[in-house]
Amino acid sequence: MDIIRVEGGHALAGAVHVSGAKNSALKLMAATLLAPGVTTLTNVPNISDVHVMGKVLKRMGATIEVVDEHSLAIDTSAVDSWEAPYELVAKMRASTAVMGPLLGRFGCAKIAMPGGCNLGARKIDMHILGLEALGVEFDTDHGYIHASAPQGLSGTTVTLEFASVGATENLIMASVRAEGTTVIDNAAREPEIVDLANMLNEMGARITGAGTPVVQIEGVDELHPVTHRVIGDRIEAGTFIVAGALAAGPEGIEVTGFSPAHLGMVLKKFELMGIDVERTDEGVRVHRARGIRPVDIQTLPFPGFPTDMQAQAMVLSALAEGSSVITENIFENRFMFASELVRMGADIRIEGHHAMIHGVDGYSGAQVTSPDLRGGAALAVAGLIAEGYTEVSAIHHIDRGYEHFVEKLCALGAHVERVAVPDPIDD
Ligand code: EPZ
Repeated sequence: MDIIRVEGGHALAGAVHVSGAKNSALKLMAATLLAPGVTTLTNVPNISDVHVMGKVLKRMGATIEVVDEHSLAIDTSAVDSWEAPYELVAKMRASTAVMGPLLGRFGCAKIAMPGGCNLGARKIDMHILGLEALGVEFDTDHGYIHASAPQGLSGTTVTLEFASVGATENLIMASVRAEGTTVIDNAAREPEIVDLANMLNEMGARITGAGTPVVQIEGVDELHPVTHRVIGDRIEAGTFIVAGALAAGPEGIEVTGFSPAHLGMVLKKFELMGIDVERTDEGVRVHRARGIRPVDIQTLPFPGFPTDMQAQAMVLSALAEGSSVITENIFENRFMFASELVRMGADIRIEGHHAMIHGVDGYSGAQVTSPDLRGGAALAVAGLIAEGYTEVSAIHHIDRGYEHFVEKLCALGAHVERVAVPDPIDD
């Protein structure tokens, strides 16, 4: 079993270039199913979730050439199966992103029902309701969802109950091949959705309004393969910005490879907290915070504060000079991270969807466990300024979404290492 061991107290300097966005790359990979032939994706992060999505596509008959560490040539010409098997969906819920493209290309899909995860139930009822409106019929048996559109897909207006990222993406990817025009109302607006719509339009789709609450898709008969660059990972960038705010040396650190506009609310909240983040040509430069002001935060769909930055923000808030509340509105169970941070000395009380935070003077290094990929990364970041050593376990979570995380921190001057330790329950 590997852990990440962090020695607190070392100042950061220099620059870090973030990788391509996990939450875009996975959907772009799924979308290659819609365009028979070889689509090349560049700036793809080399992370375990991408490897799992590659397995899902290869199981269906696609071939994937790793052109270089960050470029994949995906050939979906020979895809002749439309099943996302249980063992892969259970490993990565985002495998359900193949449902829309499979329906768009083949008119059917067999997807293992996603189990819950440690963030909550993670249902796909909104995906199903929306696809049914397009003419898809569903039935479930033995833990699998069988989707089929015997009459083909026909465009219509779908109003989402909640601006679900995954439901918006599946509906876009199915409707690009529907008969007629589809309108998705109350669509999610995340930058990763805009990236997906941009690639589909490059493939020949006719999508307008991506990034706004109303997306319109005019169905087309075919899509052709393209080469597309994945946008930079705004959440990875936000994670390193927090690291800089806590541990940067006198020159600050630069975080590049992403668009600051994709972190608007995050940068606004951090500014209110007293964190000095200046825009540069390549990204941002962040300086160590001289004092952190307490600011309440609510996680909301984009352009609201992203839930994927909730844990990282809590690391800052728990050191603020005063009390603040972080409210988690997206997932029903995303405060497990708080309990781990309390082990490092934070003063946080959870009441339902609210974390009541009272700032403390500092953290003490401790053994902690990653609850999910963002929480795991946030614990390592807290370790950068904790007194003594912090050992983060269950780091497979971090490997899902952070490429070369330890190497990037070390390149900034952090004293961080990945250490193999015997599994505690092995006798
Ligand atoms: C995407 O998940 C991201 N994952 C998540 O990032 C991110 O936290 C989330 O969007 C919100 O921004 C990927 O893109 C692979 P949702 P997704 O559909 O699509 C409920 C990370 O750390 N819901 O917007 O699953 C759902 O249970 C991950 O990279 C339904 O109830 O998010 C959740 O509580 C974590 N029914 C909420 O809505 C549905 O049909 C938001 O889900 C769909 C969703």
